[in-house]
Amino acid sequence: MTQTTDKNRVLIFDTTLRDGEQSPGATMTHAEKLEIAALLDEMGVDIIEAGFPIASEGDFKAVSEIAKNSVNSVICGLARAQLPDIDRCWEAVKHAAQPRIHTFIGTSPLHRAIPNLSQDEMAERIHETVTHARNLCDNVQWSPMDATRTEWDYLARVVEIAIKAGASTINIPDTVGYTAPVESAELIRRLIAEVPGADEVIFATHCHNDLGMATANSLAAVAGGARQIECTINGLGERAGNTALEEVVMALKVRHDIMPWHTNVDTTKIMNISRRVATVSGFPVQFNKAVVGKNAFAHESGIHQDGMLKNVETFEIMRPEDVGLTESNLVMGKHSGRAALRDKLKHLGFEVGENQLKDVFVRFKELADRKKEVYDDDIVALMRAGEDPE
Ligand code: KIV
Ligand code: ZN
Repeated sequence: MTQTTDKNRVLIFDTTLRDGEQSPGATMTHAEKLEIAALLDEMGVDIIEAGFPIASEGDFKAVSEIAKNSVNSVICGLARAQLPDIDRCWEAVKHAAQPRIHTFIGTSPLHRAIPNLSQDEMAERIHETVTHARNLCDNVQWSPMDATRTEWDYLARVVEIAIKAGASTINIPDTVGYTAPVESAELIRRLIAEVPGADEVIFATHCHNDLGMATANSLAAVAGGARQIECTINGLGERAGNTALEEVVMALKVRHDIMPWHTNVDTTKIMNISRRVATVSGFPVQFNKAVVGKNAFAHESGIHQDGMLKNVETFEIMRPEDVGLTESNLVMGKHSGRAALRDKLKHLGFEVGENQLKDVFVRFKELADRKKEVYDDDIVALMRAGEDPE
């Protein structure tokens, strides 16, 4: 489903298999791509950008196969603004129950200089290629690459041309992660307000994370009127990556009070797909990554652990179950306090009195000073060492 009458519904367009896989060293095998596509489809992602069919025989096969296997999601392929690219893309996506062609061209002065096209020549190319795509497929997305560094007048002009030629989604890429949240919101708002026909299409936001602002820029674009966010699992993508799916989806869920928009993503499936993407791409998730990092639900300091034991909301704004974890993790280390040790001992099956707790706590702290993390086995060993040999 891509069109919706619910004005607060935000479509999630996942490009892990296209922009994510373009990340140097993140290449996935055919079987891995099929597995990730199936997980995305199952978790309620609206549109899956499955690849760039003209790029290689392998990409073409992967997109075709993903299209054949798709159940709920729209399957999209990428094509440059060239007729053979668009034809090849259609050959791959046409097997899907809901196919989409996504065609793009770089519209900023720097990008226009590469094919050496004048503004008029590029405008003509956009008209020709979007019309061609639309003759093949009912669902066409068009992107002016480097939109955020394109002159306003020219951007408004080419967006209007693409809409008139039949694009139903207009994606506004911040290709080099240059924009800032206030600009991101204003650009979408102005396009919707000033471009003729803009109220007939869905505006999408596609942000890169070069300055660490991709999530903020995507959410700001939604505030400006965008209703499709383009993103990847774990923020995988070129250079510093793309907007992370898990971040925008959880931000919309947790801060629904001030951001009244919602997605169709089953958030309980986030952790599993995050781990699978990390494994198959070979890009481990940083420990302190928002939502899916190893430490996102871990607490070590005594004050935090004590607070968590009394009321989890003291130090957690999301429930671990909401992202597919069973529980938070109280990591035992030198910052841990007595309350956490007592709780850990209880979990490990040891009921201790105050005196015994005092004794084992001293030995635990000595050990914790020598080790980064004290594991359950270490604590069991401490207890055994303190047992009366009789
Ligand atoms: O970042 C970008 O501009 C892109 C386009 C192809 C949409 O990935
Ligand atoms: Zn991109």
